[in-house]
Amino acid sequence: MKIQGFYAFLYFYLMFPANIIGLWWAVGSPLVMEPNKICRKNRKLSGKQRYICREEKDIVEEVVNGARLAIAECQYQFQHRRWNCTTARKSFSRILSIDTRETAFVYAVSAAGVVYTVTKACSKGSLLQCTCDNSIRDITSDGAWEWGGCHDDVDFGYKKSKDFMDDRRKKKRGDLTTKIRLHNNEAGRLAIKEHMTKDCKCHGLSGTCALRTCWRRMPVFREVGTRLKDKFDGASKVTISNDGHKLVTEDNSIKPPSSEDLLYAEESPNFCKPRKKFGSLGTQGRLCNPDSPGNDGCSLLCCNRGYKQTKVTIQENCKCQFIWCCQVICKTCTSIQTIYRCL
Ligand SMILES: *[C@@H]1O[C@H](CO)[C@@H](O)[C@H](O)[C@H]1NC(C)=O
Repeated sequence: MKIQGFYAFLYFYLMFPANIIGLWWAVGSPLVMEPNKICRKNRKLSGKQRYICREEKDIVEEVVNGARLAIAECQYQFQHRRWNCTTARKSFSRILSIDTRETAFVYAVSAAGVVYTVTKACSKGSLLQCTCDNSIRDITSDGAWEWGGCHDDVDFGYKKSKDFMDDRRKKKRGDLTTKIRLHNNEAGRLAIKEHMTKDCKCHGLSGTCALRTCWRRMPVFREVGTRLKDKFDGASKVTISNDGHKLVTEDNSIKPPSSEDLLYAEESPNFCKPRKKFGSLGTQGRLCNPDSPGNDGCSLLCCNRGYKQTKVTIQENCKCQFIWCCQVICKTCTSIQTIYRCL
């Protein structure tokens, strides 16, 4: 299936040469994405997307930030695995256009990233359309504390993420891939919306905590990433029901997946060797740990092909001295380290 809507934007990022992208993720963001450009590049926007692009440029900016946050989290969660969420164009564009578990994760974490950045921007007061959520004051609390402060308005972030990222054109609504994508986007959003927490602050004479005020906030994004990674591990394979309306698990005996679970339709390859169709670049040349029995260990990561060791010279700051006041002077030390790479 073709990549559409928001995901065409993500793909657009990947049109830059790989080294710029690599640098970009590595050092933060020398490359500021212009909202105008993403909106123009994509000619297949749905009505709501077009509206946001035209009328809410500051939100488009948060959408871009959300995508960055999401990809960084994806790379953190998968750093030690054969598929490491690489944004190398050859791989990423394939992953976005198929229907595997990896696809499910990328879609869900991106939808979540946008909920997160838009909502945070509301709380910080940097968007015109939204502020802290004030509706919560009316909810009763138990007397030991009361609602106060700035509540994250997750419903606003949720709505914008949905409007901008779900591709709801009628023509496509029936097909399996579209249904799965909409489901996984929703699962990503719910990984935040259904897991809001409460933060509190004490008041009163020091240490007495006679009164506490509490506010609702989103979970930190690392927690969201970890939750979605668990869902990735337990993702369900689905097909379309005979009447063509519903997604059903292939194995009807197991309990049906909930709206927070991730769904996929295609089995992933093992990512050992390059396989274009599935966005696999293979693991040749990957750094591995010869002593680890886990995913980052050379035997699993290198698919038992073996590995080679090389010595590399590393330069780092050492013998640092603190000089009053306030300077730190270091020497540069050179050390030789052994690294291991998959054959
Ligand atoms: C991710 O995997 C690709 C392909 O196997 C590799 O080229 C790249 O260096 C890896 N990235 C990291 C951070 O290990």
